[in-house]
Amino acid sequence: MKSTYSIAEIQSWDRFTRANFINTLSGFKSLSLIGTVNGKGISNLAIFSNIVHLGADPALIGFINRPLEAAPHTLQNIQETGFYTVNLVTESMCNQAHLTSAKYPEGVSEFEMTGLTEEYREGWKAPFVEESPVQYLLKFEQVIPIELNGTFLVIGSLQAAFVPAEIQEEDGFLDLAKVEILTSLGTSGYYKTEKISKLPYAKVK
Ligand SMILES: Cc1cc2nc3c(=O)[nH]c(=O)nc-3n(C[C@H](O)[C@H](O)[C@H](O)COP(=O)(O)O)c2cc1C
Repeated sequence: MKSTYSIAEIQSWDRFTRANFINTLSGFKSLSLIGTVNGKGISNLAIFSNIVHLGADPALIGFINRPLEAAPHTLQNIQETGFYTVNLVTESMCNQAHLTSAKYPEGVSEFEMTGLTEEYREGWKAPFVEESPVQYLLKFEQVIPIELNGTFLVIGSLQAAFVPAEIQEEDGFLDLAKVEILTSLGTSGYYKTEKISKLPYAKVK
């Protein structure tokens, strides 16, 4: 039997229950760590799961940044320096990845606080997470403020990707489950992934 809730009833719940319910309702998300650096060279790392594919040509990827009072540093650094890295999360990185969501003051690097390792590649200032098997670099393109709730859609264009050769199939598909990339639910649930099928492009018969 299904429980039925009207929005009026959901709104009457305490804010944590309401947030957990709404955050999990829209399903599993791409679990990623976004690495940035500010103008003074201080690195920042934060966990984000509201990441979305916007298109393959040009290759554009967006993410939702909460209002600036709640999550200021990643967006500020991206606007300051123009580049950021996205690093997918595995089981062995999970606890440290989660800790990056704590509200560290500006100037404190989450790399230092969590023990995740900064990795730099020649030509780019933004830090990658060395422990992550799948990493990519984005160039900041556009930020769209969402007036309804003070959040932002931040759009970047893909500049480079770093992936294990063994997960890439002949058609380009990356089987992320092969390197045990996790997925998340809300802001507290972490799940393993397993491929159950891979189907050809659907056509009307
Ligand atoms: C699993 C998980 C997913 C999260 N996803 C997002 C997200 O998509 N967008 C966001 O703004 N904050 C998200 N957060 C919260 C940020 O990680 C947190 O606000 C962080 O402190 C932001 O850091 P910053 O100020 O360094 O950018 C998430 C937290 C957790 C635990």
